[in-house]
Amino acid sequence: MPDLQIPADGLSHTALYTAWVRHVEASQPHPLFTDPLASHLVAELAGHPALDAFIAQMGITSSGFPSYHVVRTRFFDDRITAALDSGVRQVVTLAAGIDGRTTRLPCPPGTRWFELDLPGMTEFKTAVVASSGLTPACERIGVAADLAANWTKPLREAGFAFDQPTAWLVEGVLMYLTPAQGDALLAEVTALSAPGSHLLLEHLQVSMLDEQGARVREGLGKHGVVFTAARDDIGDWLGAAGWEASVHEGVDPAIGHGRSVAPVPAAWLAAATRAAGE
Ligand SMILES: C[S@@+](CC[C@H](N)C(=O)[O-])C[C@H]1O[C@@H](n2cnc3c(N)ncnc32)[C@H](O)[C@@H]1O
Repeated sequence: MPDLQIPADGLSHTALYTAWVRHVEASQPHPLFTDPLASHLVAELAGHPALDAFIAQMGITSSGFPSYHVVRTRFFDDRITAALDSGVRQVVTLAAGIDGRTTRLPCPPGTRWFELDLPGMTEFKTAVVASSGLTPACERIGVAADLAANWTKPLREAGFAFDQPTAWLVEGVLMYLTPAQGDALLAEVTALSAPGSHLLLEHLQVSMLDEQGARVREGLGKHGVVFTAARDDIGDWLGAAGWEASVHEGVDPAIGHGRSVAPVPAAWLAAATRAAGE
């Protein structure tokens, strides 16, 4: 991809790092998933100094991330697939990064999948998908927007349908928004969710803002990446907004598919539904 510029900010590098983790998992003998888009990206960026530096840093200060990211990825894969199986045909990923699900999960005909991220990442992602030669199984619609500002307007302008149930995916981003921005995001997602919608969401545990997360925060901080939020009341938070949630710790063996997960990052994985008639 000679003309492609990696977005320069550290938050974008977290997305590239996540793709690298998925590629590494996909290369194992018995992977929990494969990810051709991630593998394409890693091949194209081989030896890129910014990505290499970020991966090296994470290996020193955040060595538990890959085991958790792999289980997290499969957790959301399974629940998105279940939502599609239940008849949902509209998916919205908030802060999509280089997530390759549109090119690797089997979407039923008629599925529309909105992938929202900051403008630089959205442009980069669209170019990565085009250069990969992979054909999304759904209609993939990139949406350039800032989750800290008015992101629902660009989503609506991109064709989001209010009256259809939606599967929302909020993975790897709430910890980079302020608590108030997280509250606003949940309120906006809820307001846009027709009955039968699903909300799949990840958040950090509060301990990651204390001593338990100090080393991780120090490493990420060298790349300008800062955790700004965490919470331990995910079930109540979602419940108060009208969602019925099942919440797991990242280390919960019940979701690990036989994998053990490192205790850091300490995080929550939630799958919630919006009851018909709400
Ligand atoms: C850790 S990556 C996660 C990417 C993806 N969800 C995944 O799991 O592969 C974080 C992503 O959040 C995006 N992001 C951070 N702040 C954002 C904001 N205010 N609005 C939209 N996207 C944001 C970054 O651009 C980056 O792509």
